[in-house]
Amino acid sequence: MSLVSGQEVIRECASRGLVAGAFNTTNLETTMGIVQAVEKTGVPTFIQVAPTNAVLSGYEYIYDMVSRRVAGTDVPVALHLDHGRTLDDVRAALAAGFTSIMMDASGHPYDQNVKLSAEARALCPPGIALEVELGSIGGKEDDHGPEREFTTDPAEVADFVEAVGCDLLAVSAGNVHGYAPDARLDLDLLRRIQEAGSVPLVIHGGSGLGADQLGVLSDYDVVKVNVASDLRNAMIRTFGEAYVANPHEYSLIRVSTASVQAISDVVEQRIRSFNPRLGSPVAQS
Ligand code: 13P
Repeated sequence: MSLVSGQEVIRECASRGLVAGAFNTTNLETTMGIVQAVEKTGVPTFIQVAPTNAVLSGYEYIYDMVSRRVAGTDVPVALHLDHGRTLDDVRAALAAGFTSIMMDASGHPYDQNVKLSAEARALCPPGIALEVELGSIGGKEDDHGPEREFTTDPAEVADFVEAVGCDLLAVSAGNVHGYAPDARLDLDLLRRIQEAGSVPLVIHGGSGLGADQLGVLSDYDVVKVNVASDLRNAMIRTFGEAYVANPHEYSLIRVSTASVQAISDVVEQRIRSFNPRLGSPVAQS
């Protein structure tokens, strides 16, 4: 099937009581691993890339690769710009054919965040989902972190959502980007954010959250959970282990194929973690 809009992934998940994963890709192996798990679980999904990772290939290659792989599947998949920081990021992703956009102006003061987020809304044609961020999520994506981090203020949510007209709101409530095994969501804060505005919520930093935390997110109107570091580590680990086992290893295709399976296993575990009723046939690592 063709790529669908982000709004369609949200609608489809909401109608089936599911939470969509949003998995970051950088390259072919990651894309193959994500879609393999999506096909196995049947859960509509976002595949996403941030400008920091699009530098390797550019948005057009990412679009071509993802849309070609998704053409062979029946499960709805949207291609999402993760953490667009500028309106030029948004324009570039839209021009390449992305079907869902995040404008992250959360590092700016509130009024500037509203202004930039609303400008991104104006750039997105009808049907393209727009995610924005209120509060600033801590931690690092690759080598990039926010200048300051602070939790989402529930008192700002309703006005912000109304002023921007967003489809999705990314929130900061204890979730942290990157390798953060001690991250704990403040579920009381998440409840207050949920009650403050009627907008579907997004949790970034999925790699650092345990299954106990991920498994309750649908109770808080969370419809999208971002996961990146776990997939990246699965790929790097596969290559590292292959080299340690045999420094003379030269079969790139064997190790690449093993990395696809390792990524697929991680993605499947995560999809099952935030959709506990699917069960868990893959052993947790
Ligand atoms: P993790 O790397 O912690 O999974 O976070 C990913 C993310 O939130 C991408 O926006």
